[in-house]
Amino acid sequence: MILPITLYGHPVLRKVAEEIDKDYEGLDALINDMYETMYKAEGVGLAAPQVNRSIRLMVIDASPFGEDEPELKDFKTVLINPEIVEFMGEEMVFNEGCLSVPGIREDVSRPSKIRINYLDRDFKEHEEIWEGTKAIIVQHEYDHLEGKIFIDRVSPIKRRLLKGKLAAITKGKNIPNYKVVVNK
Ligand code: NI
Repeated sequence: MILPITLYGHPVLRKVAEEIDKDYEGLDALINDMYETMYKAEGVGLAAPQVNRSIRLMVIDASPFGEDEPELKDFKTVLINPEIVEFMGEEMVFNEGCLSVPGIREDVSRPSKIRINYLDRDFKEHEEIWEGTKAIIVQHEYDHLEGKIFIDRVSPIKRRLLKGKLAAITKGKNIPNYKVVVNK
């Protein structure tokens, strides 16, 4: 089932999301729905607050980047209760976009390497070190679990230039061609 995506201005995007356990009701169906929703909107990552659930869950499938970066071809994963335990490497700039902030792309600088702990959809624990685009995608989604959005990370001057566009999104203008919830 395709779920509506919460847009910039929706309060759920500003909450710190809660951890979940195995007994979280309907988790498997929710994960399937999040994948379906993400594919329909042509995203490579989706965090639960973007479907109006304030829980620490994200889905990723970076295979669309696989043509340019072969190591992303199989980068498909579910992360439950992730924790980035170490930020490493040099800063890397990536031109980011977000399904909750349609029509805006901005360069964001983030550490190029992370060490992360998480549970997969079977609640099996993993620790991984990811770098490059993998690390960037995961940090972008992780921000959503912390109530942050990528535009918080652009310079104040750039953010001021985006003010009009952001206000339009909160007012339900510039609606993308996927299902959304606007906070009105
Ligand atoms: Ni996003």
